[in-house]
Amino acid sequence: MCRNLRDIKSPIIIGHRGYRAEYPENTLASFSAAMSAGADMIELDVTLSRDRKVVVIHDDTLNRTTSGFGPVHQATLQTLKRLDAGSWFDPRFAGESLPTLEEVLILTEGKILINVEIKSSAWESGFPEDAIERQIVDLIIRHDLLNSTLVSSFHAGFLENIGKLPVHPEIAFITDRNAPQNTLDVCERLGVFSWHPHYKSLEQQHIEKAHARGILIFPYTVNPVEEMLMLVNMGVDGVITDDPGAAISCLFANRGTPAYISPKD
Ligand code: G3P
Ligand code: CA
Repeated sequence: MCRNLRDIKSPIIIGHRGYRAEYPENTLASFSAAMSAGADMIELDVTLSRDRKVVVIHDDTLNRTTSGFGPVHQATLQTLKRLDAGSWFDPRFAGESLPTLEEVLILTEGKILINVEIKSSAWESGFPEDAIERQIVDLIIRHDLLNSTLVSSFHAGFLENIGKLPVHPEIAFITDRNAPQNTLDVCERLGVFSWHPHYKSLEQQHIEKAHARGILIFPYTVNPVEEMLMLVNMGVDGVITDDPGAAISCLFANRGTPAYISPKD
């Protein structure tokens, strides 16, 4: 397993919200499963609770993935911790709780790369002393995970703020299906480690241009095996996928030895 972003050997497998195909997304069970499957990196989503704790959940509300209802931002951590974040997926996961970012860092202990995505709902202008960006960077430094953690967002403001901090982790810019023409210029201005485009928007020329600027490419969310093979053949540096186990079986006969088939073969 790779523990340093600088040691990445492309292509890497990134477990989207852990191992979302088979486990309740963004839970410790999902992250443990992705680690056990041999993923190189886990991706997770964070926002702030009402009492300004960094919590791991994708949606702005609790409705879809927990036993609670209403906006995440209106619930305290104590309330969030009482919720069931597993049963909605399968009764086998009853009692799985909504994790804090710190719980994930403690679980993984630097044994796997981590991609922390800051959700736009946590944006605050003015960059307050306890802004989510500052809290995330403090946690990463405190847990000695600067070399193995990548912080991403669709919202460039978070990345700009992180770049202002004297010591900070690598950052990544995410774009949706309608990525602007000047995305690579934005990436370069921000000083990103990687660009995370929607995989349907990615063209061969984007990969070549990004690599020429020293920027890696991790497209999301790639689940069909044929699409993974195609993207790897195009030269992406990794795939963000809901099913890291299937991705590993598909792309590697042995870890480290790509087994993909060129479309020309
Ligand atoms: O980080 C890539 C991907 O996770 C972004 O989309 O909606 O799954 O958070 P979403
Ligand atoms: Ca995400």
